[in-house]
Amino acid sequence: MMELLDYLGTAEQAAERGVEVIRAGLGRERSISGKGDRDFATDVDYAVEDAVRAFLDRETPEIPLLGEERGRSGDADSPYEWVLDPIDGTINFAHGSPLFGVSLALMRNGMPVVGVVFAPMSEERFSAALGHGAALNKQALRAFGPSDLSEAVVAMGDFSVGVDADKRNLRRLASLQRLVPKVQRIRMLGTAALDMCWLAAGRVDAVIHERINLWDVAAGTVICREAGVLVTDLDGVDYGDGALSVLAAGPDLHRALLTELA
Ligand code: IPD
Ligand code: CA
Repeated sequence: MMELLDYLGTAEQAAERGVEVIRAGLGRERSISGKGDRDFATDVDYAVEDAVRAFLDRETPEIPLLGEERGRSGDADSPYEWVLDPIDGTINFAHGSPLFGVSLALMRNGMPVVGVVFAPMSEERFSAALGHGAALNKQALRAFGPSDLSEAVVAMGDFSVGVDADKRNLRRLASLQRLVPKVQRIRMLGTAALDMCWLAAGRVDAVIHERINLWDVAAGTVICREAGVLVTDLDGVDYGDGALSVLAAGPDLHRALLTELA
């Protein structure tokens, strides 16, 4: 059985394959396929997923994989699972914004234990393995955020699109209404994976996603936790497979936000 640090090395090599595909595609015209109301993927999203899948199928054939664009494959009974977002921040990528990244996590019994998020445009490689710390370009990360809401920069997820978007956005609007008068600033970066990494790096102080998919935040969850950040859902339950939302912040700020949003 491989150790977590071995898996981290494998994850880093796999994500690097994805970065190579993105670099090769930069500046080329992109074909875009619609996935639903204002939701789409580019040909690069698929190409990145295929490259990372091919690498992981070769290196760890015993571990199943869940990818945003191609779904689930492999042994459904394994306690491990790779979880991949080939491009987190697809809308940013398609608009020429540099805020996007390849996000790859390894889950063990439903909890993320290894995470890498590579942001090709800034050449930033965030990584972590449970019990082994978090790093940005191999430099250790430790988040020291404020405790008070008034000093906090809070990153929030996108507004919903698709079925029932209006209903779901009422809750986001209510959260904003509560937080805007109290926090220092609100940010909406458009990439949940980098929201989490930026929190681990102290560039924002909290992350709130009212509704989020596992592939968007699984890697960022390990990176945050290893940097000393508390990651739960909006009910305060430890974030893991099956959670629908994310609230991440240092312990004091987390408590204040949980109370504010209750
Ligand atoms: C999206 C981003 C965004 C979040 C959305 C996600 P995608 O992921 O992470 O920040 O608010 O909920 O769908 O579609 O760019 O992979
Ligand atoms: Ca994506």
